[in-house]
Amino acid sequence: MRTPHSPRALAAAAALATAALAVGVVAPTVQAAPAAPGRVSPAAVAAPDIPVANVKAHLAQLQQIANANGGNRAHGRSGYKASLDYVKGKLDAAGFTTSVQQFSSSGATGYNLIADWPGGDASRTVMAGAHLDSVTAGPGINDNGSGSAGILETALAVSRAQLKPDKHLRFAWWGAEELGMVGSRYYVNSLATGDRSKISGYLNFDMIGSPNPGYFVYDDDPTLEKVFKDYFATLSIPTEIETEGDGRSDHAPFKSAGIPVGGLFSGADYTKTAAQAQKWGGSMGQEFDACYHASCDTSSNINDSALDHNSDAIAYALWQLAAGGSTPPDPGGSFENTTDLAVPDSPGPAVTSSITVTGRTGNASSALKVGVKAVHTYSGDLVIDLVGPSGRSYRLHNSSSDSTPNIDTTYTVNASSETANGTWKLKLQDKGPQDTGYLDSWKLTF
Ligand code: TRP
Ligand code: ZN
Ligand code: CA
Repeated sequence: MRTPHSPRALAAAAALATAALAVGVVAPTVQAAPAAPGRVSPAAVAAPDIPVANVKAHLAQLQQIANANGGNRAHGRSGYKASLDYVKGKLDAAGFTTSVQQFSSSGATGYNLIADWPGGDASRTVMAGAHLDSVTAGPGINDNGSGSAGILETALAVSRAQLKPDKHLRFAWWGAEELGMVGSRYYVNSLATGDRSKISGYLNFDMIGSPNPGYFVYDDDPTLEKVFKDYFATLSIPTEIETEGDGRSDHAPFKSAGIPVGGLFSGADYTKTAAQAQKWGGSMGQEFDACYHASCDTSSNINDSALDHNSDAIAYALWQLAAGGSTPPDPGGSFENTTDLAVPDSPGPAVTSSITVTGRTGNASSALKVGVKAVHTYSGDLVIDLVGPSGRSYRLHNSSSDSTPNIDTTYTVNASSETANGTWKLKLQDKGPQDTGYLDSWKLTF
């Protein structure tokens, strides 16, 4: 038998009716949502596989641009600007903020393309870059359509994933590398002193699809080196330290400015040794790229596996370094269902609201937090249970003669025998006639 309502409780109930009405105004939008899945807070997000077919499609476009512009994409030639316009068009359509930086070199205007992915902590910017110019001798598809296309497709994957990285992500396509890293040096020199320190790392990709490939990792900043080595270890592909000319690409100006650098390289005009052919396949005694700086550096001058693995490695590194995508998963992940759920008056059935948890590993903790917000004119009417993915129930709130309205409480549950992933339910039943209410929202914090 329940105690009669005090006048105070009735006044509170009247106030609540107003609150409930206010909620009622927004309810149609909220309730139109299909079985609210719960909001997933940022946790470990696996890097995507970069589709090598997409990378090759960019290379085919760059080849066509060279064909239509006198056979090359060199600084100061029409094929360079056409290449830049192609890359910029893709990035603009994907939601990047792009800017074109002009400079002058050897009597011609050069262009860098900078693409920022909105969001992330700009004081900790992770950059990936590749030179977009070819030599005048040929179309420059391995050197360096390959790096250009690899970072382009990774940028597009960032957009497809609508990645919300902790750090800020910036991509760059450099002009006039073949004239002595002119574009990248111009970029670094034009950074304000205070802005240099905001670049946590620069990753360079110059030649990543060599036809007789090696797997070389720049041996510079240990953290950046390790992230690539870790990736190739997952593929059981042995790597070597890049030794084919340390200052020979666009990472050099960054390194000179004190910015940590890293990168990948599949080899240029050095010769593959017998030991290297043994571990990587291909031809010993032959150059990694016999068409280096030659007219035959066309879309046939690409090893698809090298292009594929290196492109995937770019994505892996950026996800690891910028996205907070490191393992183990974020221990503070929380999942919420904010869809209102009416609890019918007694005697009525129990009702349940669900939260589906994904992306976590192992069991829930012995101190799982369960936040419950319920609007009710007499909280003692409510019996509330948490039901774990196993089906086991955990009592959170018992019926009582507590006449105070509403519940806004975070309960601690020993849920260590439950897997974290799965469907969790909150079960509510009204055990006292007359007063009524609804579940406003609930939340699991792991
Ligand atoms: N940067 C050179 C070019 O574009 C290629 C190259 C030679 C290279 N050795 C390297 C690139 C070492 C990176 C690392 O012609
Ligand atoms: Zn190059
Ligand atoms: Ca009731």
